[in-house]
Amino acid sequence: MQVKDCTFLITGAASGLGAATAERLVAAGGNVVLCDMNNSVTEHAERLGDCAAACIADITSAEQMQQAIDEAVRMGGAGGLSGVIHCAGVVSVAKLVDRNGNPADLESYAKTININLVGTFNVMRLAAAAMAKNTPNESGERGVIINTASIAAFDGQVGQCAYSASKAGVVGMSLPAARELSRHAIRVIAIAPGVFETPMMSEIPDEAAQALAAAVPFPKRLGKPDEFAQLAEQIITNPMLNGEVIRLDGGIRMQ
Ligand SMILES: NC(=O)c1ccc[n+]([C@@H]2O[C@H](COP(=O)([O-])OP(=O)(O)OC[C@H]3O[C@@H](n4cnc5c(N)ncnc54)[C@H](O)[C@@H]3O)[C@@H](O)[C@H]2O)c1
Repeated sequence: MQVKDCTFLITGAASGLGAATAERLVAAGGNVVLCDMNNSVTEHAERLGDCAAACIADITSAEQMQQAIDEAVRMGGAGGLSGVIHCAGVVSVAKLVDRNGNPADLESYAKTININLVGTFNVMRLAAAAMAKNTPNESGERGVIINTASIAAFDGQVGQCAYSASKAGVVGMSLPAARELSRHAIRVIAIAPGVFETPMMSEIPDEAAQALAAAVPFPKRLGKPDEFAQLAEQIITNPMLNGEVIRLDGGIRMQ
């Protein structure tokens, strides 16, 4: 799959990893639909120019995501939608039992699972149905789905039951989805980022951020959003990458 002249839908594109991916794909000659529930996605798309359009949608909504996919298919013209880079997600922290002995809130657990896991399934199913209608390109491919997991899927820390479970679910879906969609010539890969410098991480105190950076074997720093985007571009263009979860973390293993 090439980026140039192909059309991609990017969720979570108002911020962080999704926004960086949109910039990189446009720079490589692609067309992008930037999807986010945050209205600022519109300004971001405008800044990227004619190759970008915005779509305000909640990834957990079947109707809103269908509209976003339809918009991307329209933008793709004869080539249709070539790929989805699904970055929208939320982080949450809650202990099973807090310092006063109260159990964790069940609704907030379910909310994290709904956005990060059910939302990913929603995006995947609608994107796959649209891309299955594509005419295969010269290398026989119809499309590629890139999901965003987290190293918390493997090395979850205290307070991350909901977040880790949601991302472990994203990891768990990669292989069965790739196997199923192989008959449509659609690849499925997940990226499991370590700690990246994005608005999501800006809420952690400076000291904690420095400790995290120091815990990375090499390079001893947080990841840059464009390094995520770089991997997304490589996944799009390398047809042998499929059914895999790729850690992008400088070698960090959370304690
Ligand atoms: N930043 C990190 O260190 C890190 C590490 C591992 C995994 N991740 C994952 O990467 C993804 C992107 O994270 P980020 O750091 O860029 O975060 P971010 O907060 O900068 O961006 C996330 C975007 O998702 C959007 N979003 C949230 N819920 C949505 C919904 N229901 N519908 C539509 N849009 C929604 C937000 O509006 C926001 O623009 C997330 O899935 C996150 O869990 C991030």
